[in-house]
Amino acid sequence: MTVSVVCYSENFAWVAHRLKKVKTSFFCQNCGHQSSKWLGKCPSCGEWNQFAEEEIRESKEEVSSELQLSEPPISIDEIIADEGSRLITGIGEVDRVLGGGLVGGSAILVGGDPGIGKSTLLLQVLNNIALRNCNVLYVSGEESARQVRLRGNRLGALSKNLLILVEISLENILKQIKELHPKVVVIDSIQTIYSSVLSSSPGSVGQVREASERLILLSKKTGVPVFLIGHVTKDGSIAGPKVLEHMVDTVLYFEGDSGHAYRVIRSMKNRFGPTNEIGVFEMRDDGLKEVLNPSSFFLSERSEDVTGSVVVPSMEGTRPILVEIQALASPTAFGMPRRTAIGVDHNRVSLLVAVLDKICNLHLGNHDIFINVAGGVRVDEPAVDLGIVSAMASSFLGRPISAKTVVFGEVGLTGELRGISQIEARVKEAERMGFNRCIIPKTTFHEQRLDAIVSNIECVRISNLRELLGNLF
Ligand code: TYD
Ligand code: MG
Repeated sequence: MTVSVVCYSENFAWVAHRLKKVKTSFFCQNCGHQSSKWLGKCPSCGEWNQFAEEEIRESKEEVSSELQLSEPPISIDEIIADEGSRLITGIGEVDRVLGGGLVGGSAILVGGDPGIGKSTLLLQVLNNIALRNCNVLYVSGEESARQVRLRGNRLGALSKNLLILVEISLENILKQIKELHPKVVVIDSIQTIYSSVLSSSPGSVGQVREASERLILLSKKTGVPVFLIGHVTKDGSIAGPKVLEHMVDTVLYFEGDSGHAYRVIRSMKNRFGPTNEIGVFEMRDDGLKEVLNPSSFFLSERSEDVTGSVVVPSMEGTRPILVEIQALASPTAFGMPRRTAIGVDHNRVSLLVAVLDKICNLHLGNHDIFINVAGGVRVDEPAVDLGIVSAMASSFLGRPISAKTVVFGEVGLTGELRGISQIEARVKEAERMGFNRCIIPKTTFHEQRLDAIVSNIECVRISNLRELLGNLF
């Protein structure tokens, strides 16, 4: 008799559990797209076999208890916010990409390929801040305390106030932040953190979103800036939901590859400063070192008087940096000529080949064309057009361009040269680096202003590609 009662109550509990509806949905593990049913191909990012079922948390109690928005609205001119309250990290290039230091309560997402130096840089940043006698917290979900210490030994980052927490439970991390109230927090990495509220595994879209949401809320409430290190997917974007990039205040990406010593961090989004700003570093045995003069760094291995090479001042964020564009045109061995571009847009190169053919009568149709930006940098702005055209012409004609000449300008389909932004800053940087001649678009607007600021550099203004070859060599 007793036995049947037990069975009955167990059954009852089971039925009650079944009746409590657990809501689930399917999420693309690549981009975070949500769907009520399983799909083979993601309609948002086009990836196959990425959908996984995840529980949706219905109660928002934990989150609301962390936020506790109880203050009434106030007038904007009564809010106290001075720029002086930014926390300077002490590493100039990091402060530069952040827009002049860390803003209290901001969330910064740092993405980049594995092994590029994310953990290294943030440990250096934290140590720098810790040396000023304030506690900082480095949460490691990937490496053991011993491994972090070994890295610290290499970097000389051994400040007493640099606290290491090896933890992946979100609830414990939040508790520690509330108790310690550190000056800055680093989460390495957001994909390893899991919350017990959800049953899905760490790294899934649901967990990443939950963990970042609650960390960002706590950061906003307590004013503690938090760095979130994020993994990247094979196409180079930060793994996890795209909304993650919308939620944070700043997104920094590491560029460069392990084959080169230099590393570039670029701000893709910044609510507190300019975007596309870059910080340049060199990876050494003892960590990342700032490169104070990026132009000379990128031109350091340049050989003079060779064909197919020209220097372009490219604007990276708010400062100009000189980069070398190289081109190689060689007769094609097969029917289909190849067009290969590294560091510049591939379609742009095809377009410029066609313009060069039509306007300058340089018939590259039966030549393979290779374009490379030396040093492995990526330049995305239209101002490099003239550089690509000049390098291709130089390689095709077998005539070197003077090593002391820089060129820049956007090229249109009819061969016209268009004005571009920040002409003065670019010419000034070229003059500072010892160049004595620049070929630039003819725009009346800048003429007098330019002549007023530079004296040791000759400015050749052209309005169409037809005038280029006569002035280039
Ligand atoms: P790491 O910061 O672990 O990369 P991530 O966190 O982005 O995955 O960087 C590891 C790489 O950096 C590794 O290839 C070794 C190299 N490295 C140095 O060259 N010098 C150093 O002082 C350190 C700490 C790392
Ligand atoms: Mg790491």
